[in-house]
Amino acid sequence: MLSTELCKLLQIKHPILQGGMAWVATAELAAAVSEAGGLGIIGAGNAPGEVVRQQIIKAKGLTNKPFGVNVYYLSPFVEEVIKVILEEGVRVITTGAGNPGKHIPYLKEKGIKVIPVVSSVALAKRMERTGADALIAEGMECGGHTGELTTMALLPQVVDAVKIPVLAAGGVADGRQLAAILCLGAQGVQMGTRFICATECIAHENYKQAVLKAKDRDTFLTGYNGHFVRVLKNKLTQEYKRLIKEGAGDEELENLGVGRLRAAVVDGDTEMGSLMAGQVAAMVQKIQPAQEIIEEITGEAIKVLQQRSRSSFKGEEM
Ligand SMILES: Cc1cc2nc3c(=O)[nH]c(=O)nc-3n(C[C@H](O)[C@H](O)[C@H](O)COP(=O)(O)O)c2cc1C
Repeated sequence: MLSTELCKLLQIKHPILQGGMAWVATAELAAAVSEAGGLGIIGAGNAPGEVVRQQIIKAKGLTNKPFGVNVYYLSPFVEEVIKVILEEGVRVITTGAGNPGKHIPYLKEKGIKVIPVVSSVALAKRMERTGADALIAEGMECGGHTGELTTMALLPQVVDAVKIPVLAAGGVADGRQLAAILCLGAQGVQMGTRFICATECIAHENYKQAVLKAKDRDTFLTGYNGHFVRVLKNKLTQEYKRLIKEGAGDEELENLGVGRLRAAVVDGDTEMGSLMAGQVAAMVQKIQPAQEIIEEITGEAIKVLQQRSRSSFKGEEM
């Protein structure tokens, strides 16, 4: 078994978090991941507090194991989502797309573990100072909103800069990659793209098939207002490129993106929907239960780490 400091902190069996993906990470997926020994996370996205409450209640009905909620800081409902999290007794939150600093002391007081996503060393240090329990260093290979640095470059820098446990996110879909990030000093991983193709994930079949069909160079980075989003190439990204060529401003680009993730996840619109997915989409080979995904990845990571430690790197023979 792969057990790390993170497993103790969160009382989970495997050091695997499922990314709190807006629209995609509903109670069904989060509960399945938690049941399998990872930490499932409900993605609050832009949903109002009461919608998030219903998801939390549903997840409680599906698992007795701990699960978390991702608070998305670009949402207009952040305050009410946090209120619901407290009322429903959720023990872990991850945060994305913003700085949760002002909420951390209050959440900690209530005994909630807070794990912000960071994309720079400066933010990592600030989050540690504010009281975060762990950090997710997210590289720009990931699906959805991204930073500028790759996981390979960012992760060891964050590990060196803080004392709290660090997880990696972005670019991990199999056991070799899990072994690699553990070697870089991570205590665990957060995966998003691979879990889109979990059986329990409610994403539309068309979305899942688009991920399964993706090849290595099929993702595209859109961006406006300093925010970057990684998606699979389709008609929507062509339209984005056309607008850029014509000199469109941030507002026009932002309008193009409105409602597109929902269109992809719920309606299965693979042409004009926003098919958020990471560069590892090409490594996702099949739709399978969350438990199988977790067992496959941890099993392979253990094998890789054992093989590497057994094979002798004898300096004098090299
Ligand atoms: C469809 C999709 C939606 C996402 N939505 C969110 C979100 O609402 N909040 C957040 O913090 N991260 C979000 N993410 C990022 C994931 O939580 C996770 O960190 C990322 O997918 C990990 O990288 P990977 O895609 O290479 O596995 C999203 C990712 C995807 C693919």
